[in-house]
Amino acid sequence: MSNAEDHEGTRRDFLYYATAGTGAVAVGAAVWPLANQMNPSADVLALSSIRVDVGDLEAGSQLTVKWLGKPVFIRRRTAEEIEAARAVELSDLPDQGAENGNLPAGASADDANRTLDEAGEWLVMMGVCTHLGCVPLGDAGDFGGWFCPCHGSHYDTAGRIRKGPAPTNLPVPVAEFVNDTTIKLG
Ligand code: FES
Repeated sequence: MSNAEDHEGTRRDFLYYATAGTGAVAVGAAVWPLANQMNPSADVLALSSIRVDVGDLEAGSQLTVKWLGKPVFIRRRTAEEIEAARAVELSDLPDQGAENGNLPAGASADDANRTLDEAGEWLVMMGVCTHLGCVPLGDAGDFGGWFCPCHGSHYDTAGRIRKGPAPTNLPVPVAEFVNDTTIKLG
């Protein structure tokens, strides 16, 4: 192969990879507006601290709100989802750290360390895949939690990575209940 052909081949490879990369990003960009439209009541401006009314949220459903320019999932879990998450051994988790802004560094990824309340009904997480930043889909994937279609990462019902290329669990932001029906982020 001449130098010129060699160069041409390299350039084609580069174009192929560049195009594939753009496609992956476009998928993520397309998913977020869709999720946003499905939750018009959660159209919250990005502020450093926001309050979200969760009074109408049924068990087994979730809100997606925008906070600091990123989607945040607020899920009210069913008893089955809580049970599934709490039955998992820490040793089965690829990422065993809490990544919870409410807890000191070094806490474990036990389900009880990721939820807002002791009963484990309320789960608040950044809705950003820890692989390359797409927005995972809810009620999906092999573990009944979230699934990122960009490259196939499966998260469980506590938002912990179980399978696929994402290296860490969905992070839990600083959040708290300020009254019976309002969650404050930040
Ligand atoms: S961005 Fe790659 S699996 Fe989610």
